[in-house]
Amino acid sequence: MKVVVVTGSPHPNGPCNTLCQELITGAKEAGHQVVTYDINALSIRGCQACRTCKEQDVDCILQDGLAPYWKDLHECGALVVSAPNYCSQVCGPMITYMNRHYCLIRGDGKLRIHPGIKLIGIFSQGREDTQAYLPQYEWFLGDFENRKMVRTGLLIHSARGSQEDYDALKKQAYQLGRSL
Ligand SMILES: Cc1cc2nc3c(=O)[nH]c(=O)nc-3n(C[C@H](O)[C@H](O)[C@H](O)COP(=O)(O)O)c2cc1C
Repeated sequence: MKVVVVTGSPHPNGPCNTLCQELITGAKEAGHQVVTYDINALSIRGCQACRTCKEQDVDCILQDGLAPYWKDLHECGALVVSAPNYCSQVCGPMITYMNRHYCLIRGDGKLRIHPGIKLIGIFSQGREDTQAYLPQYEWFLGDFENRKMVRTGLLIHSARGSQEDYDALKKQAYQLGRSL
């Protein structure tokens, strides 16, 4: 199965990317093919509201860092989305990325993507209470769930948590990948 991992953190070795790497290790050990998109390193524009996707029933036509992504998304069985919390919300570039999935709903309201893609969210925040921003993470993941993706995991890391908490999350991330 193809697994697409989309990361939004600018910290290569920060908790978001570390947890994603653990998940990727598990997924690869389980025999899956992993494709990654580092949103921070890619040049990505917001939805231009051109409605070409609706009028021509096509994926987003913007020729930017997301151009190769749509084929991978259509082929994948699992999507992992990861972001740090900036200003009480998923970081901006990941919201820009999320907005681009507008193209997956056709003009007649039907979906242009196969249902049942497994969805995993991995977030990190400074605030200790890992439930504090749950509505924001739910809102973000909800856009993917509206495209009939099925959530199979949600990891929320706090930079104020203990090393034990972090180690436990790493194990969970590995297991999430292993059990895809
Ligand atoms: C611009 C900016 C805004 C932030 N805003 C918040 C915030 O509102 N709430 C919070 O809990 N943490 C906030 N943080 C802290 C990060 O979410 C936290 O450091 C996180 O662990 C970063 O994960 P990463 O290193 O994997 O990118 C902010 C960090 C930055 C750089």
